[in-house]
Amino acid sequence: MAYQSPKLTRIGLAGLAVMGQNLALNIAEKGFPISVYNRTTSKVDETVERAKKEGNLPVYGFHDPESFVNSIQKPRVIIMLVKAGAPVDQTIKTLSAYMEKGDCIIDGGNEWYENTERREKAMAELGLQERLPANLVQAQRDYFGAHTYERVDIPGSFHTEWFKLAKKINN
Ligand SMILES: NC(=O)c1ccc[n+]([C@@H]2O[C@H](COP(=O)([O-])OP(=O)(O)OC[C@H]3O[C@@H](n4cnc5c(N)ncnc54)[C@H](OP(=O)(O)O)[C@@H]3O)[C@@H](O)[C@H]2O)c1
Repeated sequence: MAYQSPKLTRIGLAGLAVMGQNLALNIAEKGFPISVYNRTTSKVDETVERAKKEGNLPVYGFHDPESFVNSIQKPRVIIMLVKAGAPVDQTIKTLSAYMEKGDCIIDGGNEWYENTERREKAMAELGLQERLPANLVQAQRDYFGAHTYERVDIPGSFHTEWFKLAKKINN
């Protein structure tokens, strides 16, 4: 199932809990059309709904892994943000069934490095890439930031335009 299907999106994100949902919204807010997928489909609907409410952001939700993978431009890049351990293996298995040579999965979660090394080897045999480039993940977090956050002193949900703030401070 797809919502407002675009031609092809720039990137995909699988795993729409706290981290994935907010990173997807931030990537979309920076102008990159993004496809999103989650094992439990209600989180896909929730993310798309948030994207609409938070400024009609280009977030496209998919309930099945095949149409999710097919919605991304080639070579495909998919950021995965699921619980470390077995869920990562299960998600890679689900997605890689539809991915092609040259495509790449970035594990954005906090995974034990030996698991990542094992997966890199297994993926290379399929002609795919699996990476946990800590510097890249950190750079993404720094660039895209947290979409919304809560404060301990005031109730509600807050969003800060970090780049605008940095420009203001530097001027
Ligand atoms: N939360 C934070 O502040 C934070 C900060 C830094 C890093 N991280 C890291 O970022 C990653 C994501 O964190 P998170 O807090 O957003 O999520 P999380 O609570 O670690 O994981 C929930 C996500 O994993 C999926 N999942 C769980 N078991 C699965 C399985 N067997 N097959 C497929 N998917 C499965 C869930 O899908 P369902 O909805 O279908 O259950 C959901 O999308 C983790 O590695 C975490 O350690 C988190």
